[in-house]
Amino acid sequence: MPLPAAETTPPDPATFIRTQTALAPVEPLLPSLLLWQASEITPIWQATEEWLARQGVPPPFWAFPWAGGQAVARLLLDRPELVRGRHVLDFAAGSGLIGIAAMRAGAASVRAVDIDPFAATAMRLNAAANAITMDVACEDLIGQNLPGVDILLAGDVCYERPFAEAALAWFRRLAAEGVTVLVGDPGRAYLPAQGLDKVATYAVPTTRELEDREVRVTDVWQVPAG
Ligand SMILES: C[S@@+](CC[C@H](N)C(=O)[O-])C[C@H]1O[C@@H](n2cnc3c(N)ncnc32)[C@H](O)[C@@H]1O
Repeated sequence: MPLPAAETTPPDPATFIRTQTALAPVEPLLPSLLLWQASEITPIWQATEEWLARQGVPPPFWAFPWAGGQAVARLLLDRPELVRGRHVLDFAAGSGLIGIAAMRAGAASVRAVDIDPFAATAMRLNAAANAITMDVACEDLIGQNLPGVDILLAGDVCYERPFAEAALAWFRRLAAEGVTVLVGDPGRAYLPAQGLDKVATYAVPTTRELEDREVRVTDVWQVPAG
């Protein structure tokens, strides 16, 4: 379907997602998980930021499985004991890939949050496509207490200085309070150079259009408790 002409009111998110992206496996690292994704064959792949802004659509982070999220999701499928029976928060979840992997790995519950309402809708569609249940919310939790959360998982949150600094300061407080915090990151500009413990490393295949390279070496870091 071609890109629709510019509209004055934002489109219905579910219709927008279904018509502008395609449901496909996260190849080749997570072939058992499906996401509504942008690809060379979907209209949104051609969309400019200006066109999206005219539609009232924020940049579609939810339309891609980012390298950091893929690494955390792969880790959960490789080592399900990290989340089995635990209550999980997928923070800045985008597509919800990490939360979906956590449910597949046996988490007791997943809450997946993002500030973008399109991401919240994408997460609901993606959860249904993978036949898992997770609680989805459109909210900014930075700075809040997280009663009942055992483990916070975050993929690719260090791409912008104010967001990365605020998120990492909050992660350190939560870790000190006993929450396990894991962060997947492919070496983004605002990942702290020190004070994190490496848990795993994956070579995440990506596209030149998105990342300007075909593979991103991506680490999963644990925020230490003290
Ligand atoms: C690069 S994407 C990563 C998405 C996903 N975790 C992944 O790895 O595929 C970053 C996401 O952070 C979200 N975000 C930015 N600021 C946020 C905040 N304060 N609270 C929650 N989500 C936020 C954006 O809307 C976007 O979906």
